[in-house]
Amino acid sequence: MPNSHLYFPHLKLAQSYWKKFLKKGDVAIDATVGRGHDSNFLAPLLLGKDLGELFCIDIQEKAITTSKNLLDKELRKELFKNITFILDSHEDFKKNIDIKVNLIVYNLGYLPRGDKTVTTKVKSTLLSLESAFKILADKGAISIMCYPGHTEGQKEEIAILDYLRNIDNKKFNICYHKWINKEKAPSLIWIEKK
Ligand SMILES: C[S@@+](CC[C@H](N)C(=O)[O-])C[C@H]1O[C@@H](n2cnc3c(N)ncnc32)[C@H](O)[C@@H]1O
Repeated sequence: MPNSHLYFPHLKLAQSYWKKFLKKGDVAIDATVGRGHDSNFLAPLLLGKDLGELFCIDIQEKAITTSKNLLDKELRKELFKNITFILDSHEDFKKNIDIKVNLIVYNLGYLPRGDKTVTTKVKSTLLSLESAFKILADKGAISIMCYPGHTEGQKEEIAILDYLRNIDNKKFNICYHKWINKEKAPSLIWIEKK
């Protein structure tokens, strides 16, 4: 089912935010690159000849390899060279990235059709969010897709919302999108630095 994931409403909404938000020359992180579909959508929005940077992070080697192959096949060569793949946890961005970032994208959970036990977890996701706030550029944004349909995903969404409720509203606008007529449907959180 090629590109079937594109028809999930939370993802369509996230993509519409990314499209409006990003411009050529921006720096973005795909903090959970998975199979590379999100990066494949993001790359043409911010990369140009010698412009922009996209960092693709995943804790699984299989995810990095699959994403590299997809992006190599789908993108023009001149865009591919401004993409850096990082095989590591996203808990501490500063370990691998030393520039300010305009957009950080999370598509939480486990690799579709992969090992469901390798999923994003409350502790590492909260550490990652703290780290994301530290490297975010002025007027930067964070996009988080949550999957409360599985146990760890449900805990994660609750913990993220609890954490974000305490973020200073003078410094950040934070919006939570939830489809209310489908129980445990995925949700989208959009955070903008003022
Ligand atoms: C839902 S998938 C991402 C889908 C992906 N963005 C795409 O477009 O195909 C979630 C990914 O998060 C990764 N992951 C889990 N824990 C992680 C961590 N601590 N740091 C980085 N990636 C992690 C998993 O390996 C998995 O590939």
